[in-house]
Amino acid sequence: MTFNQPAGYSYLAERFPALTRHLPRLPLGDYPTPLQRLGDRRRGLWVKRDDCTHPVYGGNKIRKLEYLLGDARQRGSADVVTFGGVGSNHVLATAIHGGALGVRTTGMMLPQRMTDYVRGTLERHQQIDSRLLRSPAARRARVDLMRQLRDGAESGLTVVPLGGTSPRGSIGYVNAALELATQWKRPQPPERIYVAAGTMGTAAGLAVGLSLLDWPTEVHAVRVTAPFQVNAIGMKKLTTKLALLLQRHDPRVGELATPWRRVTIREDYLGEDYADVTPASQRAVDESMRRWGLPLETTYTGKAMACLLDDLSEHPSHGDWLFWHTYNGRAAPGSLGALESGYADFLSLCR
Ligand SMILES: Cc1ncc(COP(=O)(O)O)c(C=O)c1O
Repeated sequence: MTFNQPAGYSYLAERFPALTRHLPRLPLGDYPTPLQRLGDRRRGLWVKRDDCTHPVYGGNKIRKLEYLLGDARQRGSADVVTFGGVGSNHVLATAIHGGALGVRTTGMMLPQRMTDYVRGTLERHQQIDSRLLRSPAARRARVDLMRQLRDGAESGLTVVPLGGTSPRGSIGYVNAALELATQWKRPQPPERIYVAAGTMGTAAGLAVGLSLLDWPTEVHAVRVTAPFQVNAIGMKKLTTKLALLLQRHDPRVGELATPWRRVTIREDYLGEDYADVTPASQRAVDESMRRWGLPLETTYTGKAMACLLDDLSEHPSHGDWLFWHTYNGRAAPGSLGALESGYADFLSLCR
């Protein structure tokens, strides 16, 4: 049961079928994503290629959206609102995959630092005619805008949280950990998993999945956003809520012993601000390409890889370490055209 599963196969549903009824999932991705060695056999380095979760637009958001859009579908709501910086991968992934399912997505856009992919993200939004709005700075105005969106949504509005991170969205990464277990043929589970942490859903889902598997694997969650978004207290809350959600809907899930304890938040890689191109991140992107031909970027995966590379030089003899790739690896199709004013205007949200 390792390769050639039908697209959208759910490893979690196979183990706990009762969950399917209560926590519906809309299969979107192509699974299992490849598990590959990095470098020669003597080095226990691996990569899980979630850059390849979807042939059109992949990355880690797809697994979360399967449960978030599954929820929208079950409620019968054809409108979704979500949030993110102007270059947000999550808003784009929601617009692309929601749109393909006939769900209309409104993206509430927040300011962010200018990076080389912001323009490309807006071009893709323009290509699929995404509805983007500026998220008002004042709380009151935000509430009013949400009310207007709710009133305008004939069949109900589903709110998808920032980064797709909620207990429900994070189930996608519980599923991903179980998927990894079907591919893993070494005598011992991996000693460590390295993953970028922006809103923590990916790392939290993996931690709960690893607890379900009863693997001793540590999760090194490399913080790439501000400390208020990624921290140990938040991780404890999120993993606890996620475990309770699963247990509530299928008691066979059982007690999961302290999943958050396996997560170490790695603090030294953000730089000054979200999306900062740090020298360490740039070096990791270059080195990953040179050594393994593995493309990364500087905001998320480059930072997670910088952490792994630092640890490698400190621990020359180590067990199996796995790098979890999270950035969409599918190139945009051809020329996307110049940005028209409706979309170019969002560039002014960049700092
Ligand atoms: C490419 C990429 N990698 C990693 C992450 C971090 O995932 P999470 O928000 O689940 O911590 C994000 C989003 O924040 C992302 O877009």
